[in-house]
Amino acid sequence: EMPLLEQCYNLLDFEAVARRVMKKTAWAYYSSAADDEITVRENHAAFHRIWFRPKILVDVEKVDFTTTMLGTKVDAPFYVTATALGKLGHVEGEVVLTRAARKHNVIQMIPTLASCAFDEIVDAAEDDQVQWLQLYVNKDRAITKRIVQHAEKRGCKGLFITVDAPQLGRREKDMRSKFTDPGANVQSGQETNNNQGAARAISSFIDPALSWKDIPWFQSITKMPIVLKGVQRVEDVLKAVEAGVQGVVLSNHGGRQLEFARSAIEVLAETMPVLRQRGLEDKIEIYIDGGIRRGTDILKALCLGAKGVGIGRPFLYAMSAYGLDGVNRAMQLLKDEMEMNMRLIGATRIDELDESLLDVRSLFNH
Ligand code: FNR
Repeated sequence: EMPLLEQCYNLLDFEAVARRVMKKTAWAYYSSAADDEITVRENHAAFHRIWFRPKILVDVEKVDFTTTMLGTKVDAPFYVTATALGKLGHVEGEVVLTRAARKHNVIQMIPTLASCAFDEIVDAAEDDQVQWLQLYVNKDRAITKRIVQHAEKRGCKGLFITVDAPQLGRREKDMRSKFTDPGANVQSGQETNNNQGAARAISSFIDPALSWKDIPWFQSITKMPIVLKGVQRVEDVLKAVEAGVQGVVLSNHGGRQLEFARSAIEVLAETMPVLRQRGLEDKIEIYIDGGIRRGTDILKALCLGAKGVGIGRPFLYAMSAYGLDGVNRAMQLLKDEMEMNMRLIGATRIDELDESLLDVRSLFNH
């Protein structure tokens, strides 16, 4: 007896259902995180240390939370972040997320390690629908160049280079489930070692030698805006500005890489004052991901200066449990929570969200 979709009232409900109904190996791969899973818990917990300072008696009859991301107009300040192996959760894989992103007019980031072929995911999108490419950089730069230029040719509007995974983290839940069938459109042609879990089995092509010196090369092979995904300290945000990239995603990869990495919301709170102090806040777009489950989480990130937020596991869980209807409902729930909570804090537009609406005193001191 599986709960009806209508009985899922928030994103966490989808996780509870998915845990019960998903195949064990799929649940292990999606839900796992590094080591003792401290960082993955902190990602969500950190939001609980931020409180609102709402404004009263503001006319909030009309609320508008449309915004732009890398120049694209979107209906809500969240995007579908890249998560590998969509077919573990649903037979159709990533194209389910493509369709939901279309319906809600938000952006989907296509993972290098998608289960569906890249072209299949692009073909599943409507003509004017915007997608981004998440890139794991191959040791063989000819392969990387081909992937990037093909994505640009197919209309991708952003290149998100993952920089927090020179080696895949140790996800023991995933390893224990003895992964055997990645079902991935693996673009690496590497031999795999299935005893290491799904993640390790498909990721050995990733180049651990990738460094700041490579950024100009990426800028020379594509005109897509470049965003570094997985930045974790303000010093590196400043380097990213200097390198001339268009954005960063403050992220610890959903707690799946470095254990005891800080939450992105905390890194964001550290970053924005430094950027403002140097007059750099308009030079780069700052995104965050990790642990975002509620409209209030999104509002807190935007108040602190994020341009938008990425959401990973909740959409995978909704897709695995209920398919397209599930992802559509998850996105609608987030939009409903956004609308209600913008009213309750006294903001009618995204550009009215600022730090004065927050009390962040216990974010760092707890
Ligand atoms: C990921 N993530 C990820 N990131 C990336 O750059 N390339 C990838 O292939 C993947 N694959 C992947 C698979 C699964 C199952 C998960 C859960 C995550 C990380 C992802 O983009 C994002 O950083 C986190 O998922 C955000 O945290 P939440 O929303 O899952 O809490």
